[in-house]
Amino acid sequence: MLDFLGNLERTHLCGELRAAHAGQQVVLMGWVNRRRDHGNLIFLDLRDRSGIAQIVLDKELTPEGHVKGELVRPEYVVAAVGKVRLRDKDAINPKMETGEIEIEATELRVLNDTRLAPFSPAEEAIQNEELRLKYRYVDLRRAEMQRNFKLRHEITLAIRDNLSQQGFLEVETPILTKSTPEGARDFLVPSRVHPGEFYALPQSPQIFKQILMISGFDRYFQIARCFRDEDLRADRQLEFTQVDLEMSFARQDTVFAVVEQFMKAAFAAAGVALSTPFPRISYDESLRRFGTDKPDLRLPGLTDVRPAFTDENLAALQIDPALPVVALRIPNVGELSRKEREDNHPLFDLKKGAKFIDDFKRLAKGFPDAAVKVRELAGAAEGDFVIIVAGDPAHHIKASDTKFEGRLSEREINVYAAAGNFRSELAKKYADRHGAFRVTEQTVEAAHAHGPNDQVDGSKAFFPIWLTDFPMFEYDLATAKWVPAHHPFTAPYEADMPNLVSDPASVRANCYDLALNGLELGSGSIRIHRKDVQQVIFRALGISDDEARARFGFFLDALEYGTPPHGGIALGLDRIVMLLAGAASLREVIAFPKSAKAIDLMADAPTTVTEEQLRELHIRVALRD
Ligand code: AMO
Repeated sequence: MLDFLGNLERTHLCGELRAAHAGQQVVLMGWVNRRRDHGNLIFLDLRDRSGIAQIVLDKELTPEGHVKGELVRPEYVVAAVGKVRLRDKDAINPKMETGEIEIEATELRVLNDTRLAPFSPAEEAIQNEELRLKYRYVDLRRAEMQRNFKLRHEITLAIRDNLSQQGFLEVETPILTKSTPEGARDFLVPSRVHPGEFYALPQSPQIFKQILMISGFDRYFQIARCFRDEDLRADRQLEFTQVDLEMSFARQDTVFAVVEQFMKAAFAAAGVALSTPFPRISYDESLRRFGTDKPDLRLPGLTDVRPAFTDENLAALQIDPALPVVALRIPNVGELSRKEREDNHPLFDLKKGAKFIDDFKRLAKGFPDAAVKVRELAGAAEGDFVIIVAGDPAHHIKASDTKFEGRLSEREINVYAAAGNFRSELAKKYADRHGAFRVTEQTVEAAHAHGPNDQVDGSKAFFPIWLTDFPMFEYDLATAKWVPAHHPFTAPYEADMPNLVSDPASVRANCYDLALNGLELGSGSIRIHRKDVQQVIFRALGISDDEARARFGFFLDALEYGTPPHGGIALGLDRIVMLLAGAASLREVIAFPKSAKAIDLMADAPTTVTEEQLRELHIRVALRD
């Protein structure tokens, strides 16, 4: 019963038809979204990428079309030929963009039938994500997914266009290459031609983009695929896409200005106005105020409430007086019952050696002055849920008390981090139910305190923020050594260079992150461009000349051939799209993602390969248990 397409030519997309098209002869093609049989009249909702149009098959007008209309089922592929007409007044559907018209069909061709999929793309996403990924071709037909990928396309286009206008050249870098030092595990590809040798897939184009600066490309960018063998999370995939860029003769401010421009263009493509410049906050300040280096400015920050307590209070409450005492506040949650509060407790990360007080009634009984003062200091309004987080002297975890001048100790950071985690977990939990994330005047104020940003359009509130002044080194307790906090080509601040060996704790890295609503969007740095500085850094990091040569020899060679000062950054494109699509996971904005268990459920990868293929690659598989 299937028809051939013949020389039928599509004239319009379903979703573009409006009242103004009334009277026009059209040919539409697409999938049957829904079918309603009213006897002599059969209605088909025909769907293509642009939307849905209603086809009317009238037994009198097209007896043959009507017969086919009785046979077709949802997701059949059909072509409808006919005339656009205005619907009767009472049949107008204001919920459909094409709701004022319908197509009076004179012919219907059934181009293909379908097997019954386990879910209907006419409906919302089903809960079973594995099924969605296995039948991804059906899942991607859903209007929401089509919207996400249109958005992704438009954002990418806006970024490309903007960077091109800012003088950046897009250059592709190799996929089969050598290991890049981004800190994740490499994916390796065995070489057939060179037995026992492997290529690595790039964790990022890092080294190549720096070499392009040595090559005089001045401004490079790439919408670049990156590969990292790491555990998957909602915001992490094995392969993902970066907006990657590098610039010669650039300072931190130069990079920020470029990124702010393309971010503005990208967000504008999604209908969101970002104001620039983005606020900046130092790493230490961010830990103190938000308990994280990925601050979410939609919520009030942490407040130091140490002054609310006397020393006796702290002793009685068994709070470590040497560590920070901070309060976090989740707006609009209202009074919680004991049971509701207890349900929150698993969200607190006990491994940080911190404790919390969330029972203000009890606190008010024993320590009435402190309880009032805490809420006052935290600026808590009626209905705001306030929790105190502090060091727990009874809960000793392995952490350093060592205090380096001007830096937070590991133990202090742990308390802030415990508070920061709790704050974001609770905010997520209460966001929908209580509008904790709803932008209130206070949150806007909090954001403004860090610089101008008036993008506060209710639910679509996006608060980007630059993180600066990261420490160059972290102290590793196990080895009692300073270890790099970033990849080893990150330059220190010029002013801090004299302290590299004498006082590594004080050295700040000339690197930066971009965070937005609690997510790390990007990260970059000004690079080391001089061999003498690179040698000092390697030495400070305890990397021997031989080791440096073995790992990055070709790059160190290149550095000696006239390297300009340069720096750059990479932003996660998938993450940008995820935020703007309002999606909960990267899998909603990547066409063919891996499942949480790192499997391509549709293509069924990874799989074993044939003996023949292994032989060609000089490989024998011997699984260890
Ligand atoms: P970094 O490793 O911080 O920096 O990565 C930059 C940005 O890429 C995104 N990202 C990811 N997105 C999805 N899944 C992943 N597994 C994943 N890993 C990272 C994040 C992150 O902020 N070469 C440096 C950049 C530079 O110094 O120029 C780099 O790759 O949004």
